[in-house]
Amino acid sequence: MNYTARFPAARPRRLRQSEWVRRLTREHRLGADDLIWSVVVHDGAEDEVPVAAMPGVSRLSVRAAAQAAKRAAKLGIPAMAIFPHIDGAKKDSTGREALNPDGLICSVVRAMKDAAPEVGIMVDVALDPFTDHGHDGLLRDGRILNDETVELLTEQALIQVKAGADIVAPSDMMDGRVGAIRSALDAEGHQDTLIMSYAAKYASAFYGPYREAIGSAKALKGDKRTYQMDYGNSDEAMREVALDVAEGADMLLVKPGIAYLDIVARVKAEFGLPTYAFQVSGEYAMIKAAAAQGWIDDDRIVLETLTAFKRAGADGVVTYFAAKAAELLG
Ligand code: PBG
Repeated sequence: MNYTARFPAARPRRLRQSEWVRRLTREHRLGADDLIWSVVVHDGAEDEVPVAAMPGVSRLSVRAAAQAAKRAAKLGIPAMAIFPHIDGAKKDSTGREALNPDGLICSVVRAMKDAAPEVGIMVDVALDPFTDHGHDGLLRDGRILNDETVELLTEQALIQVKAGADIVAPSDMMDGRVGAIRSALDAEGHQDTLIMSYAAKYASAFYGPYREAIGSAKALKGDKRTYQMDYGNSDEAMREVALDVAEGADMLLVKPGIAYLDIVARVKAEFGLPTYAFQVSGEYAMIKAAAAQGWIDDDRIVLETLTAFKRAGADGVVTYFAAKAAELLG
């Protein structure tokens, strides 16, 4: 700590007395460059199907997703993250549709890169949108199989990268998947594809609305606590991150967001890699629900929460509010 003077020589309020000096002394700032816009896509014909638990968020058709990519480019948003809602008829116990090179995600990636090549496209690597049991991995006798799942995830990642994805983001929390994906990508000449690892992802009630959004809520049998982390833990997050860094993760993600700022701060301080936070569906829903009651001002809360991630040390935030925030920031 570098301040020495005491009151009355020191009067911290001097630095807050007007907007110009507040601007001059502000330590952390939010800009469009800090945003990754998360969007939900679907394989239906309607351009937009509203997600009830997330007012203002809709499942987008391939065409609407391409339009959204153009909008992101105009708003100066550097990247988008896409999450699929898959027709229930295409789901099975092994999530086979995840490996379809002509499936929804690959079509969306191609359409978005076509519409706005300058926008980075991040894809989720996990099986939950595609399995009839709603788990991120293969389920046998009530257990999630690690190594067999990693093989599928590696294939899924490769297929998405071949369709043009710029960043693969394994969100499944299986052990060893970052290393397996890295070597598979390298072996096929995709050395430049980025991996953003969901390195510290917690088993969280904040994902509730997302599961409605992608249609896995009713499907999910049990919970994800044998692979996602226990929210009582922080040292364990450092071990998870250390493994993913050693396996070749380029960027790190902490999830959920606002309740996990201590984890963001530790990850950034201890590893120094580009570190992101995910402001997840439940956080979005809470803000929108309170705003709908007139209890909070959502525009102000959006900017305040997103800036808080920056202050905690995040280099950026994955958020459903990205377009809104970029508009507010002008
Ligand atoms: C699962 C996945 C989840 C989210 C992104 N990928 C949910 C889960 O782990 O059950 C949550 C996103 C959100 O809540 O906004 N692969």
